[in-house]
Amino acid sequence: MRDDLRLLKSLAGPFPAFDPDLTPDEPRELFSQWLRDAIAADIKEPHAMVLSTVDENGMPDARVLILKNLDHRGWHFATTGEGPKGRQIALNPSVSLTFYWSALGRQVRLRGVALQAETHERDADFRARATGAKAVALIGRQSDVMGSRHDLEDALRQQHRRLHEEPDLVASGWALFIVMPHEVEFWQGNSDRRHDRLRYRREKAGWIKEQLWP
Ligand SMILES: Cc1cc2nc3c(=O)[nH]c(=O)nc-3n(C[C@H](O)[C@H](O)[C@H](O)COP(=O)(O)O)c2cc1C
Repeated sequence: MRDDLRLLKSLAGPFPAFDPDLTPDEPRELFSQWLRDAIAADIKEPHAMVLSTVDENGMPDARVLILKNLDHRGWHFATTGEGPKGRQIALNPSVSLTFYWSALGRQVRLRGVALQAETHERDADFRARATGAKAVALIGRQSDVMGSRHDLEDALRQQHRRLHEEPDLVASGWALFIVMPHEVEFWQGNSDRRHDRLRYRREKAGWIKEQLWP
């Protein structure tokens, strides 16, 4: 495997130029620009991100989620609040988000806290989901051990029936979280390894920008 791995190229480029001196005062603005660049570059699932949490023993956990929105409060994601990540956030709301857009050689890392959005926002998010996704969410039990695939099929049939009768149903455990960062780092890879790193750090007076050694 080591030889196979050595043959693989990483950060081959060419990548876009990045001038940290020409960046906005707020990380959200730069993030929006980079996400739009990723969409324009046809990167698959540019809104996929890794959410990292810690459990009750301080053990890290991480999984891929979809970014649902971005506003003045922060970065939104939706999930059941009753599974492992929801329980971990309830105990410790400190989280991080990581984005990677390989074709652009760009990574963004956020550290902050996850808060629950208003109930009406959570309900609207759920109602906008496709029927199949709603049915799975209505079952709940995400990440529980499953006896057999038949159990899933039975549970799905039951939830599809419920949804047919009550199309406005919202899963009781559904949660819309908003990550409010205190630190956001933009990393622009460079094929000569002189990577550019710009970190925004939230202070009382506003955001401080700092360049980091590669
Ligand atoms: C591309 C991709 C997108 C995903 N999007 C979501 C999502 O938006 N919400 C979600 O709850 N799980 C999503 N998942 C599944 C999670 O990675 C994870 O398996 C699930 O949420 C259970 O996580 P937990 O056991 O840590 O709570 C996605 C997985 C992939 C690969």
